[in-house]
Amino acid sequence: MAFHPSYSKVGASSSRENDGECTHECSRPKAAPTKINMSTKSYFIIGTDTNVGKTYIASALIQHFVAAGFKAIGMKPIASGCELGANGELINDDVLALNAAGNVQAPADRINPYAFAPAIAPHIAAALAGVHMQIEVIQQAYTQLAELAEVVIVEGAGGFFVPINATQTLADLAVQLNIPIILVVGMKLGCINHALLTVEAIQARGLNLAGWVANQIEPNMPMFEENLAYLKQRISAPCLSVVQWQKTAKFDLYS
Ligand SMILES: Nc1ncnc2c1ncn2[C@@H]1O[C@H](COP(=O)(O)OP(=O)(O)OP(=O)(O)O)[C@@H](O)[C@H]1O
Ligand SMILES: [Mg+2]
Repeated sequence: MAFHPSYSKVGASSSRENDGECTHECSRPKAAPTKINMSTKSYFIIGTDTNVGKTYIASALIQHFVAAGFKAIGMKPIASGCELGANGELINDDVLALNAAGNVQAPADRINPYAFAPAIAPHIAAALAGVHMQIEVIQQAYTQLAELAEVVIVEGAGGFFVPINATQTLADLAVQLNIPIILVVGMKLGCINHALLTVEAIQARGLNLAGWVANQIEPNMPMFEENLAYLKQRISAPCLSVVQWQKTAKFDLYS
């Protein structure tokens, strides 16, 4: 995996800027820097789609912050597709993965304010459950997490325009949270269109796109390098990492 932080908690310095180059040696940590600004303590992980590696990348990012000495926590504001636990609680795989990566404890309803059993569009799942999701509720939960941890990594749901309720989408949540965004591009046919549309939508809202990650979610994407080169040319924000497809998609950053 390929977030190679050029910082540590002690002695972190904004002078350690980088050249914005991607690193291809994703499974081998090395000294290649990133553009991540250490004065920023939270990131909103947005994907080009569902199933593109948001949880995978968010967890890796949390692990990096933990390894760098920070108190880091993940947040999944909206999760659909949950199992029923022994005590009637809803258990979500993304929440479990983010929790496993972090090193801060917090109430479950702060980490995941909205959870729904069916693996369907969240606003529909919410309607079926008689729940009206509110951005303010998510904002309050985020604020509480930010008081407990030094770094909060917030994972979106699906893509940037996933509805939250009848009038608002994840984009409105991004505006409300106003934390830097990292876009995970699931590298597959169609990803250029998805990525550029998402970048445009982020930038049209005046949001800070800290960078993007090219996540190779298919083992053999035809013309991978050509697609990557085009995205690097067209997206003005830095490519923070090129993450190769891994047989066992495990977090082997520090093993
Ligand atoms: N680089 C990779 N190599 C191999 N498998 C990967 C890679 N990145 C992600 N995966 C796998 O792809 C699947 C989808 O990844 P992930 O759950 O992180 O997507 P997501 O965008 O968070 O999905 P959702 O929209 O449901 O939250 C998972 O099984 C994950 O392990
Ligand atoms: Mg996920």
